[in-house]
Amino acid sequence: MKRERWGNRTAFILAAIGSAAGLGNAIRFPYIAYSNGGGAFLIPYFVAILTAGLPLLVMEFSVGQKYQGGAPVALGRVKKGFQYFGWWQVVVAFIIVTYYVTIMGWFWDYLYASFTVAWGNDSWGYFANNVLQLSDSPGNLGGFSIPVLIGLALTWISIYFILRKGTKSVGKVIGFTVGAPFVLLFILILRAVTLPGAMEGLNYFLKPDFSALLGIKVWIEAYTQVFYSLSVAMAIMYAYASYMPEDSDITNNALIIVFADTCVSFMSGLAIFGTLGYMAQDAGVPIADVARGGLGLAFEVFPNAINMLPGGTFVVALFGIVFFLTMLTLGIDSAFSLVEATIAGVADKWGKDKYRTTVGVILAAALISLLYATKAGLYWVDLVDHYINSYALIMAGIMETIAIGYFYRTESIREYFNSVSEIKFGKWWTFMIKILPIILFVLLVRYFVEDIKVPYEGYAAIYQWLGGWGLIIVVGVLALVLTKIKSRYNALDADKAS
Ligand code: PHE
Repeated sequence: MKRERWGNRTAFILAAIGSAAGLGNAIRFPYIAYSNGGGAFLIPYFVAILTAGLPLLVMEFSVGQKYQGGAPVALGRVKKGFQYFGWWQVVVAFIIVTYYVTIMGWFWDYLYASFTVAWGNDSWGYFANNVLQLSDSPGNLGGFSIPVLIGLALTWISIYFILRKGTKSVGKVIGFTVGAPFVLLFILILRAVTLPGAMEGLNYFLKPDFSALLGIKVWIEAYTQVFYSLSVAMAIMYAYASYMPEDSDITNNALIIVFADTCVSFMSGLAIFGTLGYMAQDAGVPIADVARGGLGLAFEVFPNAINMLPGGTFVVALFGIVFFLTMLTLGIDSAFSLVEATIAGVADKWGKDKYRTTVGVILAAALISLLYATKAGLYWVDLVDHYINSYALIMAGIMETIAIGYFYRTESIREYFNSVSEIKFGKWWTFMIKILPIILFVLLVRYFVEDIKVPYEGYAAIYQWLGGWGLIIVVGVLALVLTKIKSRYNALDADKAS
C-alpha cells in the first residue's frame, strides 16, 4: 500500500503548526500563566521548550519519518514491545479530543451570541447559565445543555468534512486556518494595548518572578503546557512526519513550528493580560483577583472586554464575531489532528479502508464527547484536562524517551536527522533525550504527592477517581488491549516490516 503524502513541505509545516497552535495556546496558556502568577510562569516555560519541546519534536519527526508509520508502528519498529507506548499516546489523543471538541462547541455558541451581543453585562453569568447551564456538581449531569450540544454537533460535522479525504483536503483548509489566527490575534492585541490599564496587565504577565522557580507546581505545569501545546507525546507528530518522504528536512521544520507555536501563545497572552489590566483598572481590583481563572478565563475576559469597546453595538458585534471565528479556526486543525492521530494509529495496524476508520473513530469520539455536553460538562472537562495532561501525557513523554534514549542507539537518530537537515544539532540533543525521563519522573512524583495532599480543585474523591486516576488506569488498559489484539493483520504487519 502506498503511503499518503503531503502535497509539499509547506503543507506539512502548516499542518504541524495547525496542530500545535490551538485552544491550548489561546485559552490554556493564558490561564495556566494567570494561575501561576503571570510572569512567574515564563522562565519555566522557556526552559521546558528548550529542554523538552524542541528535542522531542525532533525525535518524533525523525522516528515517524524514518519508519514511515504512526506512533505504534514506528515505536514498535524500534522494539516490538514499544508498540504499547505508541498505543498509550493514541488513547491519550483520543481522550483529549473528546473534550477538546466540546470547548470548540462553546465557541460556536459565542459566535452565534456575538450577532446580538447576547452576553450583555455579565459575561460569567452568561457563560455559566446560558451556555453551559452549569449544574452544581460533577455528579449532577442534569441532562444536556442544548446550545452546547448544537455547538458540539457543528464541530464534529466540520471535522468530518475536513478529514474525509485525508491529507489532501487537510492541505487545503490549513492555509486559512493557520494564517487567520495570527492576523486576528494581532488585531486583538492592538486593541488591547490601547485600553487604559493595559500596561499593568502586560507588566503582570511579562515580569519574570525568580522566587517562583522554587515551587514544583509551576514546573510541572510548564512542561505539561509545552507538551500539550506542541502536540508532542500524543502520536500526532509521528503520524504527520510519516506522510513525509524519508529524506525531508527535520530540524529546520521543528524550529519553525516551535517558534510559530510560541508566538501564538504569546500573542494570546498579550491580548488576554492586556485586557485583564483594563478590567482590573475598571473594577478597581488587583489583576490577580479580576477574573475567576480556570478554563473559563477566556470566556469571562473576552466578552467583557469586547463590551467595553467604543463604537456602539455594531462594532462590538463585529469584533465578537471576528474573535470567536479566530478561536474556531485555531481549534479546528488541532482537533482534527487529534482525530487523525487515532486514525493513523488504527489504520496503520488494520490498514485497508481509511475512510471507514475515519468514520468509526469520529462516531466513537462523538459519542463519548456527549458527556461534556451535559450541564456538568465544565467540571468534567476540567478534571479530565488536569489528570490526562499532568499525568498520562507526561508519562507518555517518559515512555518514549526511555524507548529512544535507552533501548535504541540514540546517536543514530541524531545522525539520521542531521543527515537530512540543513541545521545540525550537537550532542546536547542526545543528552536531553537521555535525561528527560529522569526529569519528568521526578516532577511527576512530586506533583503526585501534592495532588494527593490537596485534591484538585477540591472536587470530591469519587470524581477525582472517575475523571482522573481511574481514567489513567483506563488509558493503560486500553493501550494494552490495542497492543495485544491478535488478528490476521499482525501477519500483514510482518509483511510490511520485512
Ligand atoms: N496543541 C493543541 C493546542 O495547543 C492541542 C493538541 C494537543 C492538539 C495534542 C493535538 C494534540 O491546542
